[in-house]
Amino acid sequence: MKKLVEIKDVCKIYNPGENEVRALNHVNLTIGEGELVAIIGQSGSGKSTLMNMLGCLDTPTSGKYFLHGHDVSHMTDDEQSDIRNREIGFIFQGFNLIQSLTAMENVELPLIYRGVGKKERERLADAALNSVGLEKRKTHRPNEMSGGQQQRVAIARAIAQAPPILLADEPTGNLDSASSKEIMKIIKRLYAEGRTVIIITHDPGIAAQAKRIITISDGMIQSDIINPDYKED
Ligand SMILES: Nc1ncnc2c1ncn2[C@@H]1O[C@H](COP(=O)(O)OP(=O)(O)OP(=O)(O)O)[C@@H](O)[C@H]1O
Ligand SMILES: [Mg+2]
Repeated sequence: MKKLVEIKDVCKIYNPGENEVRALNHVNLTIGEGELVAIIGQSGSGKSTLMNMLGCLDTPTSGKYFLHGHDVSHMTDDEQSDIRNREIGFIFQGFNLIQSLTAMENVELPLIYRGVGKKERERLADAALNSVGLEKRKTHRPNEMSGGQQQRVAIARAIAQAPPILLADEPTGNLDSASSKEIMKIIKRLYAEGRTVIIITHDPGIAAQAKRIITISDGMIQSDIINPDYKED
């Protein structure tokens, strides 16, 4: 398997000095292309910090991060946003949709920033919304949709340009169990289609659906196992 992510001895220290917080404490982690990984840990264990690092939203205080073999540990903001645009789709717990825009417009928005022309934008957004089963909700605004539907819009937005990496931070955190099941089904389908999927969660039920489970606590990796109960479906 080709290496996608290689994190070497990474520390992230907030507020260096007296009140410092070691959110990541000498983390080493390798993830291959096409893996389905869950990172699980309690509140404050460093999950979001790790996700921000993986997603090039933040850089380490020390240590190195290689993405596709390129050192991305010390990039400028512009270089980081370039990589994010090309490589990574984000799904957040709070959906992060813009309330005044329709589902279509929400999915199109990042494509505008990437300079995709109107026709192509509409084609991509349309296909992405179809792929998450929202054919009939394209002109709805977020407050006219259920939580599960809003999260599906957010997934459509993340996958519209088919990024090779999908990072999901508590993707089902705000959803009831039926919607949560639906979202996990979509996420697993995206994995089956060949994407690398990394799910951050505090929920053992969600982590149990991943092929590999990494447990983090106090900014350190406690265990890293292949899930013996994993089932392809
Ligand atoms: N910007 C910041 N400044 C200072 N400390 C921070 C900052 N962001 C996070 N922390 C601290 O770093 C630690 C890890 O935080 P992080 O957000 O990564 O946890 P988490 O595992 O995502 O938790 P949750 O499940 O509650 O989202 C926590 O102790 C937190 O208080
Ligand atoms: Mg978090």
